[in-house]
Amino acid sequence: MYFHSTVALAIQAILFNVVIAKRQQSSCSIKSGGSNATDDAPAILEAFKQCGRNGRVIFEPTTYYVNSVMNISWLENVDIEIHGKLLVRTLNECTDIPYWLNNSLDVGYQNQSTALILGGNNVRVNGYGKGNFDGNGDYWYQWIRKQPNTSNYPGRPHAVTFDKLTNSAIKGLTFFRSQMWTMSIINSHHVLLDSILVNNTGNWAQSSNTDGADTIRSSHITFNNWTVYNGDDSISLKANSTDIAITNSKFYNGLGIAMGSIGQYKDEFETIERVVAENIQYNNTLHAFYVKTWTDDQNGYPPNGGGGGLGFASDMKLKNLTANGLRGAAFAISQCTRFSGAPGQGNCTNSEFQVKNVVIEGLSGTSKSTRVASLQCSAIAPCTNITILDTTLHLENGTLADGYLCGNVENSAGFECNGVPCVGGSATGEC
Ligand SMILES: *[C@@H]1O[C@H](CO)[C@@H](O)[C@H](O)[C@H]1NC(C)=O
Ligand SMILES: *[C@@H]1O[C@H](CO)[C@@H](O)[C@H](O)[C@H]1NC(C)=O
Ligand SMILES: *[C@@H]1O[C@H](CO)[C@@H](O)[C@H](O)[C@H]1NC(C)=O
Ligand SMILES: *[C@@H]1O[C@H](CO)[C@@H](O)[C@H](O)[C@H]1NC(C)=O
Ligand SMILES: *[C@@H]1O[C@H](CO)[C@@H](O)[C@H](O)[C@H]1NC(C)=O
Ligand SMILES: *[C@@H]1O[C@H](CO)[C@@H](O)[C@H](O)[C@H]1NC(C)=O
Ligand SMILES: *[C@@H]1O[C@H](CO)[C@@H](O)[C@H](O)[C@H]1NC(C)=O
Ligand SMILES: *[C@@H]1O[C@H](CO)[C@@H](O)[C@H](O)[C@H]1NC(C)=O
Ligand SMILES: *[C@@H]1O[C@H](CO)[C@@H](O)[C@H](O)[C@H]1NC(C)=O
Ligand SMILES: *[C@@H]1O[C@H](CO)[C@@H](O)[C@H](O)[C@H]1NC(C)=O
Ligand SMILES: *[C@@H]1O[C@H](CO)[C@@H](O)[C@H](O)[C@H]1NC(C)=O
Ligand SMILES: *[C@@H]1O[C@H](CO)[C@@H](O)[C@H](O)[C@H]1NC(C)=O
Repeated sequence: MYFHSTVALAIQAILFNVVIAKRQQSSCSIKSGGSNATDDAPAILEAFKQCGRNGRVIFEPTTYYVNSVMNISWLENVDIEIHGKLLVRTLNECTDIPYWLNNSLDVGYQNQSTALILGGNNVRVNGYGKGNFDGNGDYWYQWIRKQPNTSNYPGRPHAVTFDKLTNSAIKGLTFFRSQMWTMSIINSHHVLLDSILVNNTGNWAQSSNTDGADTIRSSHITFNNWTVYNGDDSISLKANSTDIAITNSKFYNGLGIAMGSIGQYKDEFETIERVVAENIQYNNTLHAFYVKTWTDDQNGYPPNGGGGGLGFASDMKLKNLTANGLRGAAFAISQCTRFSGAPGQGNCTNSEFQVKNVVIEGLSGTSKSTRVASLQCSAIAPCTNITILDTTLHLENGTLADGYLCGNVENSAGFECNGVPCVGGSATGEC
């Protein structure tokens, strides 16, 4: 007995020492070059190579100059502490923007691209409220205004893409002036994104296409305690996003929570299922919640063209929403997203993609729009089972907003349709 336990203790001690040694060995604190003349990306990649598995990677309270793309896909059981700022080099329109356009990494959907990929299992990122990703986006916002399309431009990168990230938590980070979308979350499952502040307000030009986050082919993703200042979708769920929760968050100036756009790939079947949004505050957003699907007519290819997709968005529950100065219908559906160069007016009621099973319960505050809901649905696959309960949205003069505009809506509950919505091309929920 005694002998056995001594051996056991000895073995345990050896194992413990090994673990301690390994812990110490695999903690990497990254040194910054300290000026914009040195690209810190190689040092960052080296730290992740050494300590990205069963280790700890520490960004010190300093500025790191990130002058090139990084694809860090091999993380496993790692703590990433970010005490400083990762400043992306985009200082010169003539050299830096072409660098990123040429080199940004393919996201794997919609021809989107990114500056940074993080992927792996059991990853814990903590920014302690201080860790900051600065996309230097003012240069991008100015530059994109001079392009024919101020939304998508091939190679314009997302600030970060979480690709094949599983069983992970990202906390306490701030994102300033992202180059385009702040983050894309693709092929990722069981990820918590908690206490995140996104501020994509441009200093020189209004930012465009700077979504707070976009999910694609991902499940069990929780956004908790987000604050987003931007000019596009606050958070957007796209193809094959399932079991998504958005809780205790505040959205400013953007378009609100978006489902889509979806149905962009001809004959492809895609869904959005089981979405919950609860305790959300809006300030000056266009909508609280909106859905946008492409029409059945394919014109061009993603990112800017497409259409003809199949599938459905179903089981979406929103609860306890508080709005301050909404700019459009609190709840909007447009099934008429189409390429701006599409011939004729297109057909806004032929989408085969169906929107169904929505409950909005508890929406109060103020709106500049008399429309509580504007539901422009497909005649081929009408919107069904839409419930809206307990809305008290007041206009500035104190009148209750009471517009419920319906086109091809079946089996609704909690409201009476009292008008028809505008039927026309739209990427933002209403025309
Ligand atoms: C690099 O930083 C220095 C010192 O802050 C600044 O004068 C210089 O303009 C910067 N270089 C570029 C390319 O922005
Ligand atoms: C980007 O690619 C184009 C075409 O291949 C090339 O002419 C240009 O030098 C590249 N610019 C940068 C900054 O890499
Ligand atoms: C990122 O790296 C992973 C693993 O090496 C690779 O499979 C993937 O294709 C890379 N992604 C891009 C966009 O280069
Ligand atoms: C997007 O990718 C598709 C292939 O998936 C390609 O045919 C199309 O030309 C691309 N569009 C752009 C604008 O790059
Ligand atoms: C929520 O996030 C903000 C940062 O946007 C942070 O300051 C605050 O402490 C977080 N709240 C909680 C309860 O964690
Ligand atoms: C967001 O950025 C804008 C532009 O720099 C700034 O004026 C504003 O104070 C920032 N807001 C927050 C909450 O960080
Ligand atoms: C979405 O999931 C369906 C199966 O439900 C699959 O057929 C389709 O290829 C997926 N689409 C994307 C974009 O991953
Ligand atoms: C509703 O949300 C607000 C924050 O937006 C929160 O303060 C309040 O406690 C929530 N009410 C309930 C019943 O959860
Ligand atoms: C909403 O934004 C306006 C303008 O930025 C500000 O004056 C107001 O205090 C904000 N309201 C809330 C509830 O945050
Ligand atoms: C649009 O498509 C629907 C469904 O196929 C059809 O009933 C309708 O006539 C079309 N409208 C126009 C203007 O072509
Ligand atoms: C209507 O939608 C709600 C919310 O998704 C769901 O709970 C309910 O089961 C649906 N009812 C029917 C008859 O499908
Ligand atoms: C309040 O404003 C709305 C929208 O401008 C208007 O339709 C309504 O008549 C106004 N009500 C009163 C009492 O002035």
